[in-house]
Amino acid sequence: MEGDILYKSQLDENGCNKADEMYLNVGTPDNDALRRSVKMMATATKHRMKIEESEGNLFQYGPVRGDYRFRENLAKFLTDHYQDTVIREDLFVTAGATMGLAYLTTRLFPTGSTIFVENPTYYIAISVLRDELGMNIVPVFSKNGAIDVEAFEHQLESAGLESYVPTLARPFSSMLYLVSTFNNPTGISCPPGNHNHGCVGVSMSHMWRC
Ligand SMILES: Cc1ncc(COP(=O)(O)O)c(C=O)c1O
Repeated sequence: MEGDILYKSQLDENGCNKADEMYLNVGTPDNDALRRSVKMMATATKHRMKIEESEGNLFQYGPVRGDYRFRENLAKFLTDHYQDTVIREDLFVTAGATMGLAYLTTRLFPTGSTIFVENPTYYIAISVLRDELGMNIVPVFSKNGAIDVEAFEHQLESAGLESYVPTLARPFSSMLYLVSTFNNPTGISCPPGNHNHGCVGVSMSHMWRC
C-alpha cells in the first residue's frame, strides 16, 4: 500500500516524534509510563504462561463475555477504586471503550435512534454514533460542567419518546452517553452520589418503557 511506511506508533505516523517537543494534539499514553509497564507485563505473562502449560485455554477462542478470572479480578479492582460494588456478572470484555460503545449501541438501538450526549463530549464517540452508526445525536443541557438534571428531564419530556414501542430485545427508546469520570475533553468528574443517580433515574423513567 502506498505510504505504508514502517511507523513505530501512531504518534510517529502523525509526525509527533521529536524528543524535545511536546504534542497536545493527540491523546496517547506517556512513553515513560509505557516503559514502566514492561516489567509488570513480563511478570504477568510469565505467571499466565505457567498456567497455560497445563491448561491450554488462553489461545483458544475465548468465552463470549470474556475470561472468567479476568472479570473476577477486574470486579475486585473496580470495587476497590470506585469504592462501590462491582460484580463479575455485570462485566463484559471488549477490545476497548470505543468497541464497547459501538457494540452496545448496535445491539440495543436501531439506526436513527436518539442518543443524548453531554456537551461537549468525546469527539470520536460523536463520529462513531452519528457518522458510522447513523444515530440521531442530541446534546443535553449542562451546568457547571455536568448535566443539568432538571433541564434534561424537560428535554426528555419533549423528545417524543413515549411513542416508542419497546421489544424484549430493544427495551430502551433512547440512550444517554455520559463520560462521568475524567470527561473527555473537559476532564471533569461528576460529583459522586446524587448527580449520577439523578441522571440515571431521569433517563430510566423516560427511556425504559417495558
Ligand atoms: C471517553 C473516551 N472513550 C474512549 C476512548 C478510547 O478508548 P479505546 O481506545 O479503549 O477505544 C477515549 C480515549 O481518549 C476516551 O477519552
